[in-house]
Amino acid sequence: MDRRQFIRVAGGGVIASAVLPLAGCALSGDYPAEAVQAWKGPGEEADVRRWVLGYAILAPHSHNLQSWLVDLGRPDEITLYCDLTRLLPETDPLSRQIMMSHGTFVELLDLAARQKGLRADVELFPQGEFGPAQLDKRPVARIRLVPDARVNPDPLFGQILLRHTNREAYEPREPVPAALQAITDSVASHRIRVGFAGSAQPEQLQKHRAIASEAWRIELVTPRTIMESYKVLRVGPAEIARYRDGLSINTPMVRALTTLGLFDRSKAPGPHDAATTGQIKDFNAKITTTPAFFWLVTEGNDRKTQVNAGRAYARAQLAATAQGLAMQPLSQALQEYPEQAKLYAGIHALVEAPQPRFTVQMWTRLGYAPPVQPAPRRGVDAHIVTA
Ligand SMILES: Cc1cc2nc3c(=O)[nH]c(=O)nc-3n(C[C@H](O)[C@H](O)[C@H](O)COP(=O)(O)O)c2cc1C
Repeated sequence: MDRRQFIRVAGGGVIASAVLPLAGCALSGDYPAEAVQAWKGPGEEADVRRWVLGYAILAPHSHNLQSWLVDLGRPDEITLYCDLTRLLPETDPLSRQIMMSHGTFVELLDLAARQKGLRADVELFPQGEFGPAQLDKRPVARIRLVPDARVNPDPLFGQILLRHTNREAYEPREPVPAALQAITDSVASHRIRVGFAGSAQPEQLQKHRAIASEAWRIELVTPRTIMESYKVLRVGPAEIARYRDGLSINTPMVRALTTLGLFDRSKAPGPHDAATTGQIKDFNAKITTTPAFFWLVTEGNDRKTQVNAGRAYARAQLAATAQGLAMQPLSQALQEYPEQAKLYAGIHALVEAPQPRFTVQMWTRLGYAPPVQPAPRRGVDAHIVTA
């Protein structure tokens, strides 16, 4: 942020660009140590379940809501519930992404268990599957950890502490074919289809960019959907350390504006406010230089399929990390709120996933990019409940 921009902002009483970290923030100052402590990995733990959970909580989760609750009441078992106070009703009205975000957790838990020679027997929805419209209090999974000499460690485990969602500008060079193959191989055991688009399909690539850009614009100019992000924005070290979740922003300018009362998070900016147009410009600059896109499609879309799609996504992102590649999910066009319907149809058509038989569960930018810092985590204790 330069001084000129800051003055314009202060004079106009509005925020310029890069307010939201959704599109990316090059100037994010370091987060407070306690907010990112979890990324050092768990230390010695008397109860191996706490050790595996120390890795599971590093899973990607939409809006970094970390909606995982675990009950350790039964020996050698972890019962996973969804914290129903941590949902995204506007942008994720069917809680599909929340279910995927439970799949990512289960996958990292499984990788950590393997590291300890434990087989994670995962029973999804042991008391019955949630309906398609909403979640309820029943468990998402019951996981039994069983010592098993036949269990092999998975090399993806070594990527858990290195994996981060990367919202920066990506380099123009394309992912090498061997890297794409490694990502594909990482999800071979799942009943899903993955795909990539790059410069070999220039028309396709342009269509991916156009859909991503328009979907992002819609999310920004739809007050109730942008407010859902504002509600979980954590600005500055005190908020980031206090909440250790949500979307963190620590740039000097946004912190200053917040302190001065010039960044009002209680109402959505108008479509022509600099807060909106700056975000669109920033995102478009990144999208037009994104060299490749990745997607993951399932046949069917029941709750188990969604959780398993999350497991597959976690593996794909860890495999990409191992290949030195960055990913950023692009969820907007996949979201089931009415304003996105045309783009939802557009992305499904583009990746040849006709509805309703197929669902694009995940769609991401893919490329090489400078490293980013880890996102905050609340720590294992914050997730433990007693039933
Ligand atoms: C189902 C799902 C959807 C997501 N959608 C988006 C998205 O649309 N845009 C984005 O920048 N990140 C998205 N993310 C990434 C999360 O914001 C990210 O995982 C979270 O902030 C924690 O950061 P980390 O992945 O670096 O640990 C998504 C993650 C998941 C699992």
